[in-house]
Amino acid sequence: MRAFPKGFLWGTATSSHQVEGDNRNNQWALWEQQPGRIWQGQTAGRACDWWRNAEQDFDLMVRLHQNAHRLSIEWSRVEPEAGQFNPQALARYREMILGLRERGIEPMVTLHHFTEPLWFWRQGSWLHPQALSRFRRYVEQVVATLGDLVRLWCTINEPVVYAALGYLVGRFPPGEHNPWRGFRVLRQLVLAHATAYHTIHERIPEAQVGLAKSLFIFAPWRPQHPLDRLMARLVRYLYNQQVLDALKDGHLRPPLGWDAQPYPGLAGTLDFIGVNYYGRTMVTFSLHHPKTLFIHEFTHPEGETTDITAAGEPYSEVYPYGLYELVRWLWHRYHRPIYVTENGLPDADDDQRPRFIVRHLAALHRALQEGVDIRGYFHWTLVDNFEWADGWKLRFGLVALEPTTQERTPRPSAQVYARICRENGIGEDLWAQYGNDR
Ligand code: GAL
Repeated sequence: MRAFPKGFLWGTATSSHQVEGDNRNNQWALWEQQPGRIWQGQTAGRACDWWRNAEQDFDLMVRLHQNAHRLSIEWSRVEPEAGQFNPQALARYREMILGLRERGIEPMVTLHHFTEPLWFWRQGSWLHPQALSRFRRYVEQVVATLGDLVRLWCTINEPVVYAALGYLVGRFPPGEHNPWRGFRVLRQLVLAHATAYHTIHERIPEAQVGLAKSLFIFAPWRPQHPLDRLMARLVRYLYNQQVLDALKDGHLRPPLGWDAQPYPGLAGTLDFIGVNYYGRTMVTFSLHHPKTLFIHEFTHPEGETTDITAAGEPYSEVYPYGLYELVRWLWHRYHRPIYVTENGLPDADDDQRPRFIVRHLAALHRALQEGVDIRGYFHWTLVDNFEWADGWKLRFGLVALEPTTQERTPRPSAQVYARICRENGIGEDLWAQYGNDR
């Protein structure tokens, strides 16, 4: 038995727009109406119907022996117009969090998971001069409503993904190809994290506040080629490292900032690090990719790959060993407790997910044995949900969902994960069936 520490959190992760349904007042609702933005013109629609009935999936979590869940608050419901807060929306979130607690499920609450109210978006989003004070005002309301029920807070989900896909790659709103605006947005998100960190702690000193950081293994395609090695290092720095460095020591280094002094209030604002891990990507220097700073990324042609995205490429390469490498790196560099806040794959027929789960958890177990302080694992995700630009094409759920009928069908992996959650570890037979150290 690969046993995990007592009190380890076992759960799944979701986000408001992807599961609640009927979110019409954020920038994604607008984006979904533009032709060509989402696979086959799909929309989130009813999603998983959580705004009406999240409780049916909370019951499902209990049946699957999960003891934690990461979910996000939809800012556009809480503050539909600037400065006007909706008491019914706040009450619904309180009801949901209580519903989790009553079922013995510890909530981790994310404050910003890609979506924003339309009024905030239309006024320039994070580049508006008052963006940070607006965010603080929203966070204050959420903390005043939920503070007594929530210990684990995740400020911002994947700031680099938000900035890169929106402002560099153009696959998320606003669909720009302007790296310099992307860096300005990213800088704002780093500051927004620190703002939320202090706002939460003022009210709940014992809260644990972190952010969910997307991390990949970036490997040079031609390991002997100096330019490929350089590009891999550069992208590792820009993607994995610079945000965490800034939150560790308070320095906004280029291209996020140019000051010699640390930025006030930024240093030491991570009580934990949330890791969102989806695999490995190869990196090469390419003159054909000036828009992405001459960095070209692709999945290893011989690696194990997942289902195919709307763009016709595998979503990622399955690479469990990378999770071990990354949590070790985080621990040695930052010395903060770690939660895996997302890890999963699109695999509609579930022929990979059982071994995916077992191998990624074995990677965590190995790191735990070496003293890395890992406190929980949130699989992405419980039930198939609206996968942003890929619409309903990619199926990440332990449980399959037919969005039109809302019918749920557990995949085999739901039982595999349920056993691990119940036994607080990976049993020998599961390891014999699915295991492999790499
Ligand atoms: C993450 C994101 C989630 C989910 C997941 C699967 O980047 O935070 O919202 O979509 O990827 O692609």
